[in-house]
Amino acid sequence: MAKVLVSAVLPGPALDLLRLHHEVEVGEDPIGIGHEGLLARVASAAALITRVSDRVDEAVLDRAPALQIVANCAVGVDNIDLAACRRRGIVVTNTPDVLTDATADFTFALLLAACRRVAEGDRLVRSGGWRGFSLTEMLGVRVSGASLGIVGLGRIGRAVAERARGFSMRVRYTQRHRADEAVERSLAAEYVSLDALLAESEIVCLCCPLNASTRGLISRERIAQMRPGAVLINTARGGCVDALAVAEALRTGQLFAAGLDAYSNEPAVNPELVACANAVLTPHIGSADRPTREGMASLAAESVIDVLAGRAPRHPVG
Ligand code: GLV
Repeated sequence: MAKVLVSAVLPGPALDLLRLHHEVEVGEDPIGIGHEGLLARVASAAALITRVSDRVDEAVLDRAPALQIVANCAVGVDNIDLAACRRRGIVVTNTPDVLTDATADFTFALLLAACRRVAEGDRLVRSGGWRGFSLTEMLGVRVSGASLGIVGLGRIGRAVAERARGFSMRVRYTQRHRADEAVERSLAAEYVSLDALLAESEIVCLCCPLNASTRGLISRERIAQMRPGAVLINTARGGCVDALAVAEALRTGQLFAAGLDAYSNEPAVNPELVACANAVLTPHIGSADRPTREGMASLAAESVIDVLAGRAPRHPVG
């Protein structure tokens, strides 16, 4: 039996499954054991199950001579030093597919909430400030038939495009490499440059991974290229946007609204954003429907079991 360190409790049957095969140590706090906790507890671990908020860097790896696998309970792996893992022969896995629909659903939840001022309306009712039905107040952006720009037509971007068809939206996308013609046709999605996407879309959704080419992608300059009164939705990573620039644009009206689920330095959220009534801010819950989170946890557990048994895991990264 090898030791598996799990940074925080997992939903569903994953931990029971792991315990059938290995000695399992689980962080007590659902928020995780933090970087200090990883440093303190990783020493004898053969496997590590992490979440997006767990930074696995050289310092952690230096303390983990027995480590064979880091199974990230997420599709994004920007919290892990992949090159350092590769150098040490440590396998890294993620949990794609299982979270695609949940994340695309949530992208639409944010999109609808931001365009139609759902969170603002909720606050108005709860505050007792609602004076009654009005034809002229709380007017939002029309979603049906709007032009949608998707940055990153990977699995989640495609699932967002599928949902957009139900709203008769005109879909454009951008990414480094153009998708197959068959994919474009089935999604009725047009490939354009980032410049064109920003200039032409009423709603822009970020569905891209965080990497060197997407870090800080939505900068002050890029926001200035967007249609005045556009809506920005980010269910990718906080690092893809300049939060301060977004807050400024929300104040001036360059952005009508924004729906943001992820932040650069979670759980901190830029106070300038918090001050914007037209920002819908959610606590990184894009994949958080129960079956999805349980599926992600099971997939991570299976990856650990496979690698420690000498088998190839289903979703190796890099
Ligand atoms: C969550 O943020 C993920 O990358 O799965």
